[in-house]
Amino acid sequence: MAEPLYQADLDLSALEDQTLALIGYGNHGRSHALNLRDMGARSLLIALRDGSPSRAKAEADGFEVVSMAEAAQRADMLSLLAADEAHGEIWREHIAPHYRPGLTLLLCHGFSIEYKMIEPPADIDVVLAAAKGPGGAVRSSFEKGGSLIGFWAVHQDYTGQAEARAKAYLGGLGCGRAGVYSTTFGEEALADILGEQAVLVGGMCALAREGYEQLVAAGISPVMAYIDTVHELKYIADLIQSRGIAGMYEAISDTAEFGAHEVEGPIRDAVRPVFEAIVKDVTAGGFAKRWVADYEQDRAGLKAMRAKAAEHELEDTGRLIRRASAFGD
Ligand SMILES: NC(=O)c1ccc[n+]([C@@H]2O[C@H](COP(=O)([O-])OP(=O)(O)OC[C@H]3O[C@@H](n4cnc5c(N)ncnc54)[C@H](OP(=O)(O)O)[C@@H]3O)[C@@H](O)[C@H]2O)c1
Repeated sequence: MAEPLYQADLDLSALEDQTLALIGYGNHGRSHALNLRDMGARSLLIALRDGSPSRAKAEADGFEVVSMAEAAQRADMLSLLAADEAHGEIWREHIAPHYRPGLTLLLCHGFSIEYKMIEPPADIDVVLAAAKGPGGAVRSSFEKGGSLIGFWAVHQDYTGQAEARAKAYLGGLGCGRAGVYSTTFGEEALADILGEQAVLVGGMCALAREGYEQLVAAGISPVMAYIDTVHELKYIADLIQSRGIAGMYEAISDTAEFGAHEVEGPIRDAVRPVFEAIVKDVTAGGFAKRWVADYEQDRAGLKAMRAKAAEHELEDTGRLIRRASAFGD
């Protein structure tokens, strides 16, 4: 495995004298802006759509808020931290007509370049500078003296400075505290999407719901079923993050470990064809195409699936447990 770069290896001077514009002030946008400012970036702009609910927050944090077109005109480096599904539209309508040649376009996820939502002109740099994890953690880990792990890649190098700028940006987020690795847009896009669809979100929720339903059907009380299939996930996730899968197995009871080793194989056999189909679909751009098409239909498909998921009786059980035991928000 390649050795990561640490903060001392990342030369932040590539950010000096650069006007840095961040499009979007959501989880990543706000955290990036605050970290970059704390690390010495002086000329920072936040670009938002008309009527954005985030304007007040960005201004209260002391940033100059401009339109996306103005950001494209003024920026030397432009970090696109808006929702992925809107990147194509934002590029075509707000950036492409206004940018200056030599711009460095930074992405935090490989999605819109790898699946061709943005087809960049030849006279700009296009780089990936991804802090891997939820946007809020970019800031919260930084405030505790740490960081998320960073990945950089160069899709296009017009200025000859693309790599230096991507690494400097990650240094400006503080990612060199945890380590910064090189990647490609394709690698980051597939890994991120497969991870969230098949394992971390879709896969995990499918397993949790199936486990809950099987237990309730077997006559177990919903509260007990929820605790054992949903609520305790956090304890296992924390163990895996801090000790690895083998370390987690060491930390749990031998009863749990013996049974888990026995069923891992059959569960993997059952899901393997589903995972293989996801890899094929994502790689061929099918997922990206369906998601952007749904975005263009006012997210009708997403809204319907979200509403159906929220109706599951497991949610009532969870609410009851959180209220009774003062867990959660
Ligand atoms: N590499 C990783 O591990 C990783 C992890 C998470 C996220 N990311 C990436 O980070 C980026 C931002 O994600 P996030 O979690 O920060 O998202 P988020 O919290 O949902 O914030 C999205 C921002 O995009 C803006 N936006 C949405 N649609 C827009 C449009 N049509 N025009 C202009 N602005 C629009 C929103 O504007 P308003 O404030 O006006 O609503 C908001 O400020 C995405 O590219 C995502 O893939 C990467």
